[in-house]
Amino acid sequence: MLLFKEVKSIKRYLKSEQAKGLKVGYVPTMGALHEGHASLIKRAKAENDICVCSIFVNPTQFNDPKDLEKYPRTEGQDIEILVGLDNDVLFYPTVSAVYPKGLHIPMFDFGQVDKVMEGHFRPGHFDGVVEVVYRLLDIVEPDNLYMGQKDFQQFTLIQHMLNQLASKTQLVVCPIIREEDGLALSSRNVRLTEENRKNAPIISKILHQLNDWLEEGMTIKQVEQKAIDQLSKIPDFKPEYLEIVDGYSLQAIEKMSDSDYVVVCAAVWTGDIRLIDNVILKKS
Ligand code: PAJ
Repeated sequence: MLLFKEVKSIKRYLKSEQAKGLKVGYVPTMGALHEGHASLIKRAKAENDICVCSIFVNPTQFNDPKDLEKYPRTEGQDIEILVGLDNDVLFYPTVSAVYPKGLHIPMFDFGQVDKVMEGHFRPGHFDGVVEVVYRLLDIVEPDNLYMGQKDFQQFTLIQHMLNQLASKTQLVVCPIIREEDGLALSSRNVRLTEENRKNAPIISKILHQLNDWLEEGMTIKQVEQKAIDQLSKIPDFKPEYLEIVDGYSLQAIEKMSDSDYVVVCAAVWTGDIRLIDNVILKKS
């Protein structure tokens, strides 16, 4: 595996490989790699000639400084995982390499897409995500970009950004990888207390039950409320939001027939760890 820390050198390398006609797949991460990240890397390797993974804990997307401070950093282990996956290129830049003075990014208009759910509860978070992904894409210039469905609103915004840029990069969205008990893999899971880790799979269990409740004749509002009530009963759990939305616009819908693409997204505080998850309820 090749390791680059400098923007100039990775750009030079990738340009020369792309000039030979080789296709580049790119997986941006913040490290603390797990099987969810690995699934993206395996897919990128299978569909491209070169797989580039970046590890960069992006300070601008942490609206809570304590979360940034506590974000797991497992460099040695990450490199072992990447070598084990036969990843081709690791980009491991410093903050000043990604954020050089004087480099500005274009303004994007996401309408309401970045205002709801995560956008509402984590003000500024998506400004940081969009800015860093724009900057990283400007460096790597991949043919294909691999992101997880786990962060539904994140990949939706990046798709909007790519559309607005008329970018040549294609976004490939990969399914959520879960533990055997249903908990969506996340770098933050290692920080759960034993008791909260035991209860955490209830989140995905509830999300997967919503279609049954809808089929029993409950309205969307009733289903959302029932799910929130059930989550609130778990000791130490506090649902922040649970919303059934249109999968493109991420706006609330009243009835399932309002959209052909429906997803339920949720954020739940489990002690002082915030977990997010989602389930696609309908896609035709
Ligand atoms: P990070 O949380 O490290 O996630 C990197 C990628 O892995 C994201 O596209 C995310 O959706 C995907 N991922 C995480 N958990 C997953 C799971 N259980 N199954 C499948 N894919 C999963 O998301 C970020 O970093 C950052 O915001 C980033 C895009 C790198 C910008 O800083």
